[in-house]
Amino acid sequence: MPREADIPWAELRAAAQDASRMAYAPYSNFSVGAAGLVDDGRIVSGCNVENASYGLTLCAECGMVSDLHRSGGGRLVAVAVTDPEGNLLAPCGRCRQLLHEAGVPDCAVNEHTTVSELLPGAFDLPAPREMPGVSERRGAGG
Ligand code: THU
Repeated sequence: MPREADIPWAELRAAAQDASRMAYAPYSNFSVGAAGLVDDGRIVSGCNVENASYGLTLCAECGMVSDLHRSGGGRLVAVAVTDPEGNLLAPCGRCRQLLHEAGVPDCAVNEHTTVSELLPGAFDLPAPREMPGVSERRGAGG
């Protein structure tokens, strides 16, 4: 896992900004992008996707976590969430819980904070399941 000083924040912000430009947000007209550094060095990203039944809206962080699993699993080390201008945005309450499960224990958020600072006392099952990494997931088939 990279030290705090080694986290490529400019790259993460740029990836979040790029992702936000792909948002489908015709109802709020508020485009969001999220990008995360994975513990194996990958960068994953997502954008918000709204729906006419507003409550089904997928936040950018949801798309990013889906991309995390789709591209091989592992855990997020650092996350940036931005608008299309690259301004940092605070993750909503639900997405803080999502980041709590997808991230390493001290997962960094938006350069100046961590998931545990944003969500003290986060919910955990008594015996959380392990999240397999890339090699376990690929299994014998390579
Ligand atoms: N949104 C996100 O994508 N992530 C957040 O953490 C906060 C909110 C989106 C959802 C909705 O499409 C739009 O921003 C306005 O709330």
